[in-house]
Amino acid sequence: MTQSHPRISKAVIPAAGLGTRFLPATKATPKEMLPVVDKPAIQYVVEEAVSAGLDDVLMITGRNKRPLEDHFDRNYELESALQKKGDADRLAKVQESSDLATMHYVRQGDPKGLGHAVLCAAPHVGHEPFAVLLGDDLIDPRDPLLQRMVEVQEQRGGSVIALMEVAPEQIHLYGCAAVDPTDDGDVVKVHDLVEKPAAADAPSNYAIIGRYVLDPHIFDILRKTEPGRGGEIQLTDALQQLAADEKVGGPVHGVVFKGRRYDTGDRGDYLRAIVRLACEREDLGPDFRTWLRSYVAEEM
Ligand code: UTP
Repeated sequence: MTQSHPRISKAVIPAAGLGTRFLPATKATPKEMLPVVDKPAIQYVVEEAVSAGLDDVLMITGRNKRPLEDHFDRNYELESALQKKGDADRLAKVQESSDLATMHYVRQGDPKGLGHAVLCAAPHVGHEPFAVLLGDDLIDPRDPLLQRMVEVQEQRGGSVIALMEVAPEQIHLYGCAAVDPTDDGDVVKVHDLVEKPAAADAPSNYAIIGRYVLDPHIFDILRKTEPGRGGEIQLTDALQQLAADEKVGGPVHGVVFKGRRYDTGDRGDYLRAIVRLACEREDLGPDFRTWLRSYVAEEM
């Protein structure tokens, strides 16, 4: 079933959260700027959007988030110092982030929840379907997810969310989807959503992870969505309404992701992301792996 609608070109990256799980590091530094090996976590997310063909990026920021804007801007002083030294490699690294995409920024003001952050994108997005990538969710660059979600949205219309199977005792940390299978092995039809359910009330063990391709009708729903769990305007609550009434904004499908994903706002997952990505780097990996092997052998 192929439908004709505009090609998705805009990505929205909410990055206005307070990052309280990572205090004190995030007192004055956005959690999205914490380095994963030698790149801030947010750069992986922008690179992922660009690889999926979305090079118009709107970042939702807030107080203390200026370093995010600076990172994707030119730094003439640093560039000219590196140029004078003839350090072409490092110069290329500095310029990489400012040449990636067309960046736009809007401030959320009060962080009233993810749903409210997405609503701040309405004037920029207009009436087209668009992608949302959470700034603290890192999808391993070798496991493309967003591209597949864009493809599914283009085939089936409506909205597409990313789902990942988690252990039942983990589901209370996520939004959870009730689903039916489709004729595509990795695609499910979503008919209900619950934000952070207790294991006993969870309709499945499909957790919502931080990638979405959304129909613009979501904005009309978000405008009317009351604060939900934690007193925040929840994106899951608005998506639940989209899933419940297909006549407004089309169906909601889920792409089941089986690749590697890290929540860089969580300290344990952040450490795992660094170790894994460092081990797999051509330049750092061989030495780091040797050290890690002997460290683990000593500690066990
Ligand atoms: P989280 O709940 O993981 O982010 O929100 P947080 O609030 O910064 O984290 P902790 O729990 O205090 O450590 C998921 C995503 O939504 C964004 C966050 O920046 C993150 O990318 N977000 C959340 C907003 O942009 N605005 C909000 O009001 C809330």
